[in-house]
Amino acid sequence: MEQAVEMVQRELKHVVVREHVRSLLDGAEPGTPAPSERELVSQFKVARMTVRQALDALVAEGLLERMPGRGTFVARPRRRPAQLTSFTEDMRRRGLTADSRTLLARIEKAGPGVARALEVEPNSPVVHWKRLRRAGGATMCLEDAYLNEALLPGFLASGLPSSLYDALQGRRLRPTWAEDAIQADVASVEEADLLGLEPGQPVLRLARRALCGDRVVQVSRSTYRSDRFTLHVQLGEATA
Ligand code: GLP
Repeated sequence: MEQAVEMVQRELKHVVVREHVRSLLDGAEPGTPAPSERELVSQFKVARMTVRQALDALVAEGLLERMPGRGTFVARPRRRPAQLTSFTEDMRRRGLTADSRTLLARIEKAGPGVARALEVEPNSPVVHWKRLRRAGGATMCLEDAYLNEALLPGFLASGLPSSLYDALQGRRLRPTWAEDAIQADVASVEEADLLGLEPGQPVLRLARRALCGDRVVQVSRSTYRSDRFTLHVQLGEATA
């Protein structure tokens, strides 16, 4: 009996914490931080397990989302049509500001793999743009992109934009759809050096082939620090 009473009390505490967090975050923008576990433990004088249970319920409901190493935040609404987002938009959704450092930007001749992916003849001119990408001041990924130069004459001469997709939008070439391939791997020596990792630490590789209508505009390989990046994928029929 005592055990049952204890259980009810614990369950009630969990509900109290959960509803407190829910009302606190009512109407908050996606990306707003939820109170930390430590704050809630001291505020409600409950066990950490109780707080975790309360937050878990809100994560399962889709109100909150956890970002490994960063904390818990108000989640983006569910049931949205999947959108083709740029790095800048992707980070903005997480409440972070993106910035980049260009490591390389030049015209090259397309090698066989890039030519095939971009659907151009081998040796055709392509723009090769390599950037180290940060979010909220923290290094997030290394991006190696190739663009079909024939579609983007003078791209390099017009000054490098902070967002590629914004620049493509300006030329009416923003990708309308894309194919992504995602792979778990470990960082090479060069990648580790740039990403601030040790060689052999885990990374997430994301290869994208982006098209505007039926024209392949860009292919890219992004290497993300897997301790900082969670990939969100929406599947199934979009309902809103
Ligand atoms: C994503 C894609 C990349 C693309 C980038 C553009 O990260 N995977 O292929 O190059 O977005 O981002 P931005 O417009 O911020 O430069």
